[in-house]
Amino acid sequence: MSKSMSELIIKDLRASVADKEILKGVNLTIRGGEIHALMGPNGAGKTTLGSTLMGHPNYTITGGSIKLDGKELTNKTPEERARAGLFLAFQNPVSVTGVKLSSFLRTAYKQLHPEEKVPLSEFQGRIKDHLKKVGLDEEFLSRSVNDGFSGGERKRAEILQMVILRPKIVILDEIDSGLDVDALKLVADEIREYYSQEVGFLIITHYQRILKNIDPEFVHVLIDGKIAMNGEKSLALKIEEDGYDWIRSE
Ligand SMILES: Nc1ncnc2c1ncn2[C@@H]1O[C@H](COP(=O)(O)OP(=O)(O)OP(=O)(O)O)[C@@H](O)[C@H]1O
Ligand SMILES: [Mg+2]
Repeated sequence: MSKSMSELIIKDLRASVADKEILKGVNLTIRGGEIHALMGPNGAGKTTLGSTLMGHPNYTITGGSIKLDGKELTNKTPEERARAGLFLAFQNPVSVTGVKLSSFLRTAYKQLHPEEKVPLSEFQGRIKDHLKKVGLDEEFLSRSVNDGFSGGERKRAEILQMVILRPKIVILDEIDSGLDVDALKLVADEIREYYSQEVGFLIITHYQRILKNIDPEFVHVLIDGKIAMNGEKSLALKIEEDGYDWIRSE
């Protein structure tokens, strides 16, 4: 295994929210260069998994472990997890009033890559380049993060953050929901451009449409807080046709 290749190992992860156990022993390993899709019925715990991985304060880990490149993340703060290279694009991105998108990106980048000294003009050049690629106007840079952004604009801004911040493991929670057909294509192109041997993806989705454009190697199905089935891309197609009942009864 090359040194730069990342590996996220989730072992028997259990988590609860408001004293209710939601994750009941999740096992999943995501390596650099792999694209995993996570599917599952509403309420299965997919968003809970993403939020628990990022250390969201509402979710309490009650068992198991999360390791990134051998480093235990289970008791780390969200900032430390982000610095370790984890990135989550939210199902419902929140707005951050008073923080301009441009300064947000600059600050977050410095925290993530303290060793890199990228001149401001070069950094802004990168941002403008990718703004275009995700189909956002330059005026978005001077707006507060997600403030008044439409649903689809928020999703595009999340993808912009991903390509600019350059994390090692990317979790995308329903990045495809609420995107129009053109935006879906732009977003899929950006994901494919960012995809490399070093980066691992976990793409949470209900539909195989985005998977057609991205091509996951692995498809996992989360049911009632546990991975109930692992398969290949064809599994996503079968689920779209047949739903989840047949998996539940197996
Ligand atoms: N703050 C909370 N208080 C009580 N229950 C919660 C809370 N947050 C989440 N839950 C419950 O946890 C369960 C899992 O929710 P989660 O959002 O992880 O599902 P999901 O798989 O992402 O579903 P969807 O496909 O609808 O996005 C749900 O039953 C939800 O109601
Ligand atoms: Mg969800």
